[in-house]
Amino acid sequence: MSLTSIIIFGASGDLTHRKLIPGLYNLYVKQRLPQSFQIVGVSRTAFTHEDFRKKMREALATFSAETFQDEMVTGFVENLYYVAGNAAELESFHALNRFLQEKEGEHGNRLYYLSTAPSLYEPTLMNLGMANMTSETPAGWRRIIIEKPFGYDLQSATRLNHKVHEVFTEHQVYRIDHYLGKETAQNLLFFRFANSIFEPIWNRNYIDNIQISVLEQVGVGNRAAYYDSSGVIRDMFQNHLLQLLALVAMEPPSSFEADALRNEKAKVLSSMRTLKPEHTVRGQIKGYRQLEGVASDSQTATYAALRLELSNWRWEGVPFYLRSGKSLKHKISEIVVQFKRPPHNIFGVRDRVGFSPNWISIRIQPDEGICLGFEAKRPDTIQETHTVVMDFNYQESFGHGALPEAYERLLSDALNGDAALFTRADGIEAQWKIVDPILKYWERNLDFPLETYEAGTWGPQSADDLLARYGHAWKLSLKE
Ligand code: BG6
Repeated sequence: MSLTSIIIFGASGDLTHRKLIPGLYNLYVKQRLPQSFQIVGVSRTAFTHEDFRKKMREALATFSAETFQDEMVTGFVENLYYVAGNAAELESFHALNRFLQEKEGEHGNRLYYLSTAPSLYEPTLMNLGMANMTSETPAGWRRIIIEKPFGYDLQSATRLNHKVHEVFTEHQVYRIDHYLGKETAQNLLFFRFANSIFEPIWNRNYIDNIQISVLEQVGVGNRAAYYDSSGVIRDMFQNHLLQLLALVAMEPPSSFEADALRNEKAKVLSSMRTLKPEHTVRGQIKGYRQLEGVASDSQTATYAALRLELSNWRWEGVPFYLRSGKSLKHKISEIVVQFKRPPHNIFGVRDRVGFSPNWISIRIQPDEGICLGFEAKRPDTIQETHTVVMDFNYQESFGHGALPEAYERLLSDALNGDAALFTRADGIEAQWKIVDPILKYWERNLDFPLETYEAGTWGPQSADDLLARYGHAWKLSLKE
């Protein structure tokens, strides 16, 4: 039986504790890991295998509290190993290779997980190549998952793609965006394409505008130094929000197969019109510049709102409004599809800015579900209408705990060789092409407004003004 090794570069980092090990543990509990497997942590810190196991056991107690079972955890951590190594030193890779080969014998599959600081991506890739650890043979496959951020702008992302392709072929590469691992994001495809009643109206003839809000209550926390060089556009829009947009706006793929899906996503993203500066809003939390690790004159946006337009047959003239920010009132990720008003108003329906009687909301988190808002007659009135809601809720329909962690699903897909929920090289570059001009514009035009907002609010007023200019208003289905 072939041994499958999952090798995590950056094993002492936060992601390993919080997401990767808990995700792999859940797969182990569900018996979805290969029968013979090992997880090998790699980073610079000197740990023994035992130290690493102990640390990961502690991580599971904290981050997998709901599924933690003592015996199960003991069985799981026995498969954990640790090899100290330096990404910049070829010798570390030879040593790792020897360690793996010894365990593998003749047959062995390898899934590398690149979760180091982004500056170590290139040296790690090059050294993997030079140590001859990337070529596939009949005796085993080689795959690599690459964490975000994938590049810092279009140029660096393109360069990184070249570097990746020097040592791996595209079918071995899994660029991860954990939003695609969320059940509710995947459900968008099922909602649209496993039913026949929505698709006929899913276009410019019936839809007035589409809003994607990924609002976070957490602040930048202890990641201020990273965040200050990144900002909300790189951290959230370039990847998560644009992926959600692609799922809402793409044409039906011919199958659920990786390339069919990714072709459609790349097509829709590449039909995006160049962003106009006046269609962007940037904001910064009050007090942000005082945080440790943040420049005292930082121009980094911790909030942004954009009005995007797709230039294609289906979506011509339909604005896509996207917003995301830190330290806001609540954590809500939601997509709202606003339908057009009826052509003629016979009931004297309320006529106010942003009022749109019919909408569908896809709630990614929390309170995951889908709801449809429509107007009903308020009882005991002559012709007063009232918005009512038809609601599908995951927890009610599928029970508590039905939603797996995003990383769990994605790790399992990569182990099974299914890249459908991962981003292809052209997709990543298409995403950067959309945000790059605006990042460059903001960087060059320091007088472009950077509105400060109070933590615990819904962000800058100018985000509301952006929509109001077009007779629209932000909508959330949940009570605020
Ligand atoms: C990450 C960002 O990719 O996504 C974080 O780097 C952000 O800044 C996180 O907080 C949000 O993910 P989720 O799953 O909590 O919505």
